[in-house]
Amino acid sequence: MARLTWHAHSCFEYQTTHGKILIDPFLSDNPKADVSPDELDQIDAIVLSHGHGDHWGDTVSIAKRTGALVVAAYELAQLAMEQGCEAHPLACGGGHEFPFGHVKLVPAAHGSMTEADPKYSTTACGIVITADERVLYHAGDTALTADIQLLGRLYAFDCACLPIGDNFTMGPDDALHAVKFLEPKLVVPMHYDTFDLIAQDAEAWKARVEGETSTQCAVLTPGESVDF
Ligand code: NI
Repeated sequence: MARLTWHAHSCFEYQTTHGKILIDPFLSDNPKADVSPDELDQIDAIVLSHGHGDHWGDTVSIAKRTGALVVAAYELAQLAMEQGCEAHPLACGGGHEFPFGHVKLVPAAHGSMTEADPKYSTTACGIVITADERVLYHAGDTALTADIQLLGRLYAFDCACLPIGDNFTMGPDDALHAVKFLEPKLVVPMHYDTFDLIAQDAEAWKARVEGETSTQCAVLTPGESVDF
């Protein structure tokens, strides 16, 4: 069983039989979020793709309240520890088996500033989570890269969360190329419509994905879940 719930932007709750993982918890300052940080419970881990404010978000308050382990690139994990959280550092390319699943950070082409404390810079990453024999890819804020093609060769993805918002990340055209590289069973668009600058027609993108590939596309509304 794997259930993915979108809380708008790039924030997902990912529930498997091994536990619940929260990815990129940008909630309090997210105009489209359907929950406040205080409403999330029984979180085993918070996994971060990179250090921008719209991904780091409410990491510290949620981790302190729930006891969730912060799993992130070394510098972000260090910052989380400085701010009183428990954290596990990974580096891009490295993975670790946790009770809640195997988490690996993979390359992403994107900015490296840590907005919560600019004295740290970090590595922007994508995330691969393997649990319940299912493989989930959360691309973070990446551009389309040849690395995505490599990931498609290495993994049989059950689900991929891809940004389609353009301007700061891949836009719809490049995200469609990414679907063709990754060949996931399911794709969920993210990082769009949060602000006017990244407004996109996700239903039109879904039609292109399902017309040109064999991947199913789930366009979620904030708070909605998909099982796979
Ligand atoms: Ni970013």
